Amino acid sequence: MSILSGKHILLGVTGSIAAYKATDLASKLTQAGAQVDVILTGAGEKFITPLTFQSVTGRKAFTDKDLWGDEAHVMHISLGKTADLLVIAPCTASTMAKLAHGIADNLLTVTALASTCPILIAPAMDGGMFDHPATQKNLNTLLSRGCLVAGPAAGHLASGMTGVGRMLEPMELVGHVRAALGKHGTLAGKKVIVTAGGTQEAIDPVRVITNHSSGKQGYALAQAAIDAGAEVTLITTPTSLTPPVGAKVVNVKSVQEMLDALMNESADALIMAAAAADFRPKNIAQNKLKKRDGIPQIELEAAPDILKTVSGSPVGAKRFKVTVGFAAESQSLLENASEKLKSKGLDFIAANDISATDAGFAVETNRITLLFKDGTQEILPLMSKTEAAEKITEHIARLLE
Ligand code: CTP
Repeated sequence: MSILSGKHILLGVTGSIAAYKATDLASKLTQAGAQVDVILTGAGEKFITPLTFQSVTGRKAFTDKDLWGDEAHVMHISLGKTADLLVIAPCTASTMAKLAHGIADNLLTVTALASTCPILIAPAMDGGMFDHPATQKNLNTLLSRGCLVAGPAAGHLASGMTGVGRMLEPMELVGHVRAALGKHGTLAGKKVIVTAGGTQEAIDPVRVITNHSSGKQGYALAQAAIDAGAEVTLITTPTSLTPPVGAKVVNVKSVQEMLDALMNESADALIMAAAAADFRPKNIAQNKLKKRDGIPQIELEAAPDILKTVSGSPVGAKRFKVTVGFAAESQSLLENASEKLKSKGLDFIAANDISATDAGFAVETNRITLLFKDGTQEILPLMSKTEAAEKITEHIARLLE
C-alpha cells in the first residue's frame, strides 16, 4: 500500500502562475490514494478556479468565502487538525512572509497557524524576489521552525528571465510529500544503502558487457526505505529511471566502482539489489576495437564479489547491521539461494525466479521467496516490485528493532 494511501493532505494554492501545476499535483496525490483538500487564496483563485481542483480531487475546494461562511469558526481548525500534511504549492513570497510572521488573514494562513501537522512549502516567484533579503530571512525563519521546503528550482521564470524561483515539477513534489509523510516511519533514524541496476564492464571506450537488469526493484527498494523514514543512499548504474526524491545518489558503472562506493559507506542496512557482473574483461582496450583488425578475443577474469567482500569481512560486518541480497536464479531456486545466503554472510536473501515471465528483469512484478539466516522462509505471492520492496523493508525494520 502506498504511503499516500488514506493520508489527509491539505493543499494550499497561492497566487502564482505555477498554480496550474498544482492541479496535476492534486491529481497525482489523489490517484495515489490520498484525500486531498484544496484551499485557494484570493490570488490563487485569479489563476485557477476551485472547480478545477474539485474535478480532480472529487472534493470541495475551499476559498476565503468559506472563512466567512456558516462553519467559519471551526473550518480552519478542523482542516488543520485532521491533516497529515499541509502542502503549499505554489507558495508565493507573500505567503512565505505571512507564514514566517504568523499573519493569518485568509483561510489558508489561518489554517496554517491553527494546524498541528508538518508544513511543506514549494516556493514559486521571480528570481529577484526569492533572492531578496526579506524572503531569504523568512525562508530561514520557516526552516528553523521545522517547515519543510521543496525547491525552488532554477530555470525559465514567468518574467522571461532565468533564475532560481521555479516551483518544482509535480512529480518531484509528490516525492517530497512522500518523504515528509515517511519521516517517522519504522526506519526513522536509520541509514539504508541500496544498490541498483546492471553493472557495465568496459571492453573498450565504447563497448561494455552488461545484463538485462532495469534497476526497477532497486529503485522501488530505495523509495520504500524513504517512505519508512530512512536516510537512503542509492548506488546505481545508469538506468532510465528517476531516483526517488530524498535519496543520495551515487552513480557508478562497474562492479569495481560499486564496491569502491560501498567501501566508503557504513549503514544500518545494505540491500544489494544490483545485478553485479561475475566476470569482466581482463584488459580494457584503450582505443576502440576496429573491425579491420578482425574478431577480438576477449579474455575474462573474475570480478570481485561485492557482498562477500563487504559482509564477509569483520569490517563489513560492523559497517552494515543487516545485509540483504538477491538471488537471480533460473533453476534450483531455493537450493542456490540458500547457498548464497550462507556463503555471502547475509541476514536474508530474496530468491527470484528469473525464468518466469512475470518476475525478474525489466517487468513490473516479482515473485520472490525470502530466506532468513535462522532457516525460516516466507513465500511472497506475485506482487508489484513496489509491494515486494515494502515487504523487504518491513523485515529490515523488524531485524533492526
Ligand atoms: N553480487 C555481488 N557481487 C557480484 C555479483 C553478485 O555482491 N560480483 C550480489 C548480488 O547483488 C546479489 C547476490 O550477490 O545480491 C547474488 O547475486 P547472483 O547474481 O544471484 O549470484 P552470484 O553470486 O553472482 O552467483 P551466480 O551468478 O553464479 O548465480
